[in-house]
Amino acid sequence: MKREQIQAPKGVSEYVPPRSASFEWIRDQLIAPAKSAGYQLMELPVFEDTNLFSRGVGESTDVVSKEMYTFEDRGGRSITLRPEGTAGVMRAVIEHSLDRGQLPVKVFYSGAYFRAERPQAGRYRQFYQVGVESIGLDDPAIDAEIIALADTAFKNIGLKKYRLEITSLGDAESRAAHKVDLVAFLKTLDLDEATQARAEFNPLRLFDDKREEIRSKMASAPLLMDYLSDSSRENFAQVCSYLDALGITYTLNTRMVRGLDYYTGTTFEFVHRGLGAQSGIGGGGRYDGLMEVLGGQELSGIGFGLGIDRTLLACEAEGIDLTKTSRPDLYVIPLGESAKNFAIKFIDGLRNGGAIVDCAYGDRALKGAMKGADKSGAKYALVIGESELSSGVGELKNMETGVAASVTLSTINSALLK
Ligand code: HAM
Repeated sequence: MKREQIQAPKGVSEYVPPRSASFEWIRDQLIAPAKSAGYQLMELPVFEDTNLFSRGVGESTDVVSKEMYTFEDRGGRSITLRPEGTAGVMRAVIEHSLDRGQLPVKVFYSGAYFRAERPQAGRYRQFYQVGVESIGLDDPAIDAEIIALADTAFKNIGLKKYRLEITSLGDAESRAAHKVDLVAFLKTLDLDEATQARAEFNPLRLFDDKREEIRSKMASAPLLMDYLSDSSRENFAQVCSYLDALGITYTLNTRMVRGLDYYTGTTFEFVHRGLGAQSGIGGGGRYDGLMEVLGGQELSGIGFGLGIDRTLLACEAEGIDLTKTSRPDLYVIPLGESAKNFAIKFIDGLRNGGAIVDCAYGDRALKGAMKGADKSGAKYALVIGESELSSGVGELKNMETGVAASVTLSTINSALLK
């Protein structure tokens, strides 16, 4: 009896060949600028004490109130699969006293994150992020560096149809002044009970409401940008002038609401035009109070999370060719046992020299093996049979042009194939 097949859980993203090569390439591209700016790897658990997120990310957020995968472990502890990376990084920085050393602490990370959202294109229950955090110094040049790292990564990947939106959520003084007027404004609106409750929990959330009637009511709401203290305004102007100096274009979005509550000061999002509703390919900002909330010192930090899944979708939407990112340089087809003996050593030498080389295993006939070469996407194919072994010369076929050239086997090296 054939047994029932088991399927992946609903709404997860997973990558299998050949698309997994594109995923891997994008992840590496998103990390590369951070590495070249001296950020170091942080590898953390995918599950944490639930309090880390309820305290760090904020009870008023959808992420904490509706979307966490929370369970009791065998020891009766409340555990949550990480919905984001910043709170865990901060926990680890405090726990390992990294904040007592050289500041800023500069780290990057990448991995799986979990949010029990309603699945749709570009929105998954397990998804992947690359993140960076710079913790311990409040310097507008760091804000600009962080934004530039993300922008450079997207540019290097070849993305064009995205924009960078930035704003400032100011310091505590600016936010307090704004809150007074915003709450007074919201009281003048005729809101249903659930919306009123949201407004009481966190009035800023109403800027994020997608319903047209609320949007039109919020059109005349007081904006935080108009309440920035002198020092917050100067700080933000400095960030903008560094971005200008770096040639990074951005638009001001004074109504931006991030889905996590820890943000203060410079806050930003990268939005792609080809993705429909789930258009955020990355976002981040400064968080002044997070370390203290989690039991550490009063130090500021800034960072971002870039969605690997959505960046891949954005590349596909823009028609960026990702198929060449990990294709073999050479596909070797040995015909017969003595050719196979020769081939395994020949291939090993080329691989050690840095070439990506695949081989037709399973003693396939020439026709089937050539199909394999085609499917592998290899740049070159090389058949090695009795005559090639005795002459030491083979036909190196360029799979793109179809042109074959006679080459002495001993002269084939990785440089020739690249
Ligand atoms: P976030 O905006 O919640 O920020 O997530 C960052 C990125 O992760 C989003 O822009 C999006 O590309 C991707 N993403 C989020 N949720 C999903 C989902 N359900 N499916 C697919 N992709 C998703 C953070 O997580 C912050 N920790 C970023 C940060 C770091 N802020 C400061 N430091």
